[in-house]
Amino acid sequence: MHTLITAGPTREPLDAVRYLGNRSSGRMGVALAEAAVAMGRHTTLLLGPVPHAPAAHPLLEVVRFETTAQLQALLHQHLPGARLLLMAAAVADFIPEPLADGDAKCSRHEGPVGLTLHPAPDLLQTCAASASDEQTCIGFALEPADELLERAGAKLQRKGIDGIVANALCTMDAQTISGTLLLADGRTCTAPTDMAKADFATWLLNTLRTELGV
Ligand code: CTP
Repeated sequence: MHTLITAGPTREPLDAVRYLGNRSSGRMGVALAEAAVAMGRHTTLLLGPVPHAPAAHPLLEVVRFETTAQLQALLHQHLPGARLLLMAAAVADFIPEPLADGDAKCSRHEGPVGLTLHPAPDLLQTCAASASDEQTCIGFALEPADELLERAGAKLQRKGIDGIVANALCTMDAQTISGTLLLADGRTCTAPTDMAKADFATWLLNTLRTELGV
């Protein structure tokens, strides 16, 4: 049973030295990879540009990405062999048009600079659309605390995935997580307390095994 995990932010280049990114630390996905191999699962972690990586393990392969396009290509390559996809990466929603051509840097000049942003493809939705019945796709949703479950539930439906982990916006870049797993059939599983991400990772994998058999 192969587990495919994505973690960390994407970075979309603006010119030779600048990028558009986000504050994701990748900690949740790294914790999931460490928990998965500790449970004896063959695991591939697609990891964005973050400073820390999981400890080396014989069951673990780590592949790095920077841009949404690179992550998309890696998912295309690795999804067919996976039984479970855990999509913890914070993927761009918009891809900027570059401010300068090729390897050039946009220089200082008078007046404002505008950015043109194009919608990014929804990688998880695409994965779910191509997944077989034997494959399980789980997303992660960061939402305002007061609308957490409604918004995560709507996202679960829209993306056509098997489950989604709903957590409040404050989870981004934090050490702990307070998460609820919503399943496509309406079941809801809430983790006992605000947990360290390592403990939440083990809870999530155990819950997916119990509830979905993956
Ligand atoms: N996701 C993705 N591709 C994107 C954006 C998000 O695959 N271009 C995935 C994330 O990895 C996550 C899930 O979709 O597992 C939910 O991400 P989120 O940013 O909360 O949802 P969006 O669809 O981007 O909606 P919004 O930002 O408007 O809330």
